Amino acid sequence: MSDLLNKITQIKQNVLSDLSTINNADDLEQFRIKYLGRKGIINSLFEELKLLDKTLKAQVGKELNTLKNNTESKYRELLQKFSEKNEFRVEDPTLPGRVYNIGTKHLITQALEDIIKIFVKIGFKVYDGFEIEDEYHNFDALNTPEYHPARDMQDTFYLNSEGKDKRYLLRTHTSPGQIRVMEMHQPPVRVIVPGKCYRNEAISSRSLAMFHQVEGLYVDKGVTFRELKGTLDYFAKEFFGKDIKTRLRPSFFSFTEPSGELDVECYLCNSKGCRVCKYTGWLEILGCGMVDPNVFEFVGYDPEEYTGYAFGMGIERTLMIRHQVPDIRMFYENDIRFLKQF
Ligand code: DAH
Repeated sequence: MSDLLNKITQIKQNVLSDLSTINNADDLEQFRIKYLGRKGIINSLFEELKLLDKTLKAQVGKELNTLKNNTESKYRELLQKFSEKNEFRVEDPTLPGRVYNIGTKHLITQALEDIIKIFVKIGFKVYDGFEIEDEYHNFDALNTPEYHPARDMQDTFYLNSEGKDKRYLLRTHTSPGQIRVMEMHQPPVRVIVPGKCYRNEAISSRSLAMFHQVEGLYVDKGVTFRELKGTLDYFAKEFFGKDIKTRLRPSFFSFTEPSGELDVECYLCNSKGCRVCKYTGWLEILGCGMVDPNVFEFVGYDPEEYTGYAFGMGIERTLMIRHQVPDIRMFYENDIRFLKQF
């Protein structure tokens, strides 16, 4: 028998007895270095094997390979065991469990989804529109001429459009969505356009430079003001509750004629008059009207053949009314105590 064979038998014993003392991943790593490392015992035995003469080499080599394979598989077994243990290791099992907060949709997202659902139910499609618009779609095509005060730098964020063929801006309302839809589709069209809008406003409890609107548009042959009124009344009842009363007041918008504003009764004071409704008993929630024939001319619809209605509402304003939120900034401060209530 060769010396090497004796050594292998001895190392086999050592491996077994060392294995029985391994208690953790550190012990295991020491074991790996000692036996299986590049300069470890098993590799050094392979070096010695090279020196044996041919007849012995095959027999001793076989033994050495068995030792190597067995040691490696034991090592892998223990490695698995210790890494599983680590994953679930509890430092102090008497500690109370962790409480994870579950996130919810932001109030504005919830409201947009509610509004979309209400209109989709009665046949409206949803169009996204562009937040960056050109002056033509945001103003001109909506019958808002060059000299109109809404186009002032004080009210609108213009983008640097140097070298471009048009002047670009952040849309000041979702109404350009109407124009985009009519440019792409022939009547009948029935869409809502939800999204962000921007105005160059001084920030206060009632206004922000970024806010949300939902635009509505319905164009077909023979669409009447009466249908507009009925649709808005349906919306108010779905959104605020079926007992809510609404009223339409005459108003002015350059892209609708006639134009109106929809009020809902102030349910804070039961229409008796309070600070929130400025003692009128009513709260304004949206602007609306019959699409101005000039707008139809811009998009190539025949105003003799088609009529339509449009409306636009501010989401933050509407939610302030629905949930009695006193300051519009609260929507975006991300105070969890506020958001959690919805
Ligand atoms: N775009 C208007 C605004 O931002 C709201 C509006 C009024 C939209 C009347 C309409 C409408 O479509 O018909 O104040």
